[in-house]
Amino acid sequence: MTIFPRNSLFSRLALALVASFLLLGLALMWLTRLLDHHYQDEITQRLHFALAEHIVHEGPLFLDDQPDPAAVERAFHNMMILGKGFEFYLLDPDGRLLNYSAPAEKIKRQRIPLTAIQQALSDNPSLPLRGPDPRALERDKIFSVAPVLSEGRLQGYLYIIINGEIYDSVVAQVASEEWPRWVALVLAATLGFLLLSTLGLLAWLTRPLRRLTDDIEAMEQQGFGSGTLKLRGRNPPDEIHRLSGAFNALSERLEIQYRKVKSVDEMRRELLAHVSHDLRTPLAALQGYLETWLLQQEQGRGDPEYVRIAHQNAGKIHKMVDQLMELARLESDQVPMQIEPVGIAELVQDVLQKYRPAAQAKQVLLDVQPKDPSLQVLADIEKLERVFTNLVDNALRHCQAGDTITVRLTPGPEHLSVAVSDSGIGIPASDLPHIFDPHYKAANSVRGDSAHSGLGLAITRRLLALHQSPIEVSSQVQQGTEFRFQLDWA
Ligand SMILES: Nc1ncnc2c1ncn2[C@@H]1O[C@H](COP(=O)(O)OP(=O)(O)OP(=O)(O)O)[C@@H](O)[C@H]1O
Ligand SMILES: [Mg+2]
Repeated sequence: MTIFPRNSLFSRLALALVASFLLLGLALMWLTRLLDHHYQDEITQRLHFALAEHIVHEGPLFLDDQPDPAAVERAFHNMMILGKGFEFYLLDPDGRLLNYSAPAEKIKRQRIPLTAIQQALSDNPSLPLRGPDPRALERDKIFSVAPVLSEGRLQGYLYIIINGEIYDSVVAQVASEEWPRWVALVLAATLGFLLLSTLGLLAWLTRPLRRLTDDIEAMEQQGFGSGTLKLRGRNPPDEIHRLSGAFNALSERLEIQYRKVKSVDEMRRELLAHVSHDLRTPLAALQGYLETWLLQQEQGRGDPEYVRIAHQNAGKIHKMVDQLMELARLESDQVPMQIEPVGIAELVQDVLQKYRPAAQAKQVLLDVQPKDPSLQVLADIEKLERVFTNLVDNALRHCQAGDTITVRLTPGPEHLSVAVSDSGIGIPASDLPHIFDPHYKAANSVRGDSAHSGLGLAITRRLLALHQSPIEVSSQVQQGTEFRFQLDWA
């Protein structure tokens, strides 16, 4: 991992910063140039604003209302001494050009609008003030102007363009060589320094974020989040996206954990309530029969039937406690499994054998199809036996005389399908989704049979889940019930 990956927040911020600094630099250069021109114009115009007036006061420029060529020539010559930047125009009272210090072909306009002149002659003109340049149609320049009077009568104006054409060409030459280089250099140095210090600050400020994301990444690599981390759209994502992805994953996990804990907790509480209720009946019976028997003993007799019933109740309590312990054990995360090849037909035969006397008494037929000893599956034999015991026990309890219970083994390409079906009373459709819940007894269950606490199917499902096999059920009231699951081949 590089220190600053291409898509990291820092890299992107830095890129944006460099871009905006570049833009800022260009804008600053442009603005500096603009302001520079503005102030230079103002300063120069202020310096020379009264120039025209001074020259007019030097001596008369008109003779008999006409420009006096000799006087004008002299004046222009004097003014040339002042500097090459000035251009002189003698105007009539309407602003028309009468005489000028330039070759005639250079003159592009013959009249200066009086508005500009009047503005300059007003009391407080705001400088820099630009007027039309006779040498160019679309160029305005700073100027100095003064009325030429003779005995109080207006004869015309002396209009001087300050910083004329020669000045422009000199400026252009200097500007193209010196100005941009110096300003650009100073600007670049200033902005470069600013940029570097801001980048440093940025790197420092985003460091905790980077560390956090690195930590999260490390956590991810160690297996946390196992693929739940959602990194949206970006590859590689930046710190913020990684953080929000990790945050989502975390909260999802927390939510799942919370729900799990909540449901397990609720289940436990419910179970405890039911169990204490169910234990109470056989316990009360056990106590009652024993007390009666003790009383009888004191009177010198004692009916062994009471002891037998007490013993029976003790057996029920024993079974219930055993089942609870078993479920609790299975619900815990680490259940030892002893997977080995199992002859399934034989195992089912053994289970059916246990139930045969009870089935015969009830006139229910038990069968396994096919009775093929070569069918070998991978399973924990004890747990699988418990599965069949629970299913056959349930089936038998819900069958009547003439019914059949069949365990059908159907070999498939990948698994062996097992179906335990009976032609018994069936389970109402409304109960079907709940029969695997611990302690759920369907409406059909034999009432008052406190030996059955409704844990059998919960245990069965868990035992099969440990074999990675979900269990399915289908049932029709008065037609029968079928439980199905699959086992891996050995
Ligand atoms: N083959 C079946 N035919 C009809 N109903 C059944 C069948 N198997 C299960 N049930 C119904 O599902 C309920 C839950 O069965 P489960 O084995 O979990 O509990 P149980 O048999 O009542 O008690 P336990 O198994 O703890 O002795 C039963 O009470 C019964 O109502
Ligand atoms: Mg049962």
